[in-house]
Amino acid sequence: MQFRRTILWLVASAGVALAAGYPRQFGAEATERQPLAQTQTPAPDLRPQEGFSDVPYVPTPDAVVGEMLKLALVTGDDVLYDLGSGDGRIVIAAAQKFGTRGVGIEINPRLVQKSRENAEKAGVADRVKFLQQNLFEADLSEATVVTLYLLPDLNLKLRPKLLKQLKPGTRIVSHNFDMGDWKPERAVRVRDPANQHFLFYWVVPETGL
Ligand SMILES: C[S@@+](CC[C@H](N)C(=O)[O-])C[C@H]1O[C@@H](n2cnc3c(N)ncnc32)[C@H](O)[C@@H]1O
Repeated sequence: MQFRRTILWLVASAGVALAAGYPRQFGAEATERQPLAQTQTPAPDLRPQEGFSDVPYVPTPDAVVGEMLKLALVTGDDVLYDLGSGDGRIVIAAAQKFGTRGVGIEINPRLVQKSRENAEKAGVADRVKFLQQNLFEADLSEATVVTLYLLPDLNLKLRPKLLKQLKPGTRIVSHNFDMGDWKPERAVRVRDPANQHFLFYWVVPETGL
């Protein structure tokens, strides 16, 4: 069942991007970065997950993580939240590269445990924490940067919470999926030898959309 969901998710991830016309939509305003250094995508964790998961675990390739942090203009002054943080790679990479403090919100306890181990190994355990929590129940008020790799309908479901809880000026970067009619300030297409990835960037406005 989990395997089937993961395959469906992978197909959706590629298909939605194309069906939504992202390559076309990018047009003139898009920045294209290529080629990436060789990316390594570990096999997805196909083991049954505990707790309710809205999206299967599929990690963002390391090189794409680097592009997400670049797009969000992450610095050592930021507090980065990754919602659905998987093995913790985005939070850990930001702490390693920039000294950023970070919080990963992840529903799967095994991935939370793995993230904590990865943070120890990377020497950033004092700067990051991983909470086993449903992202829809997390308190996001401390964040200055939020990263997402979810699904289009989840981004839309999350949008009111992001706009309510995040401070104006908070940056949001989403891997592959947009936020409907909330147009991104920047959109970047990143190619690697195997895939193309779409990154979207928003800044939380002073007043509602
Ligand atoms: C596509 S993966 C992205 C992992 C990581 N952010 C990355 O980019 O490498 C989505 C993650 O969200 C987690 N997840 C799914 N539903 C969730 C929920 N309701 N609350 C918290 N985490 C959730 C999954 O367990 C999975 O690890």
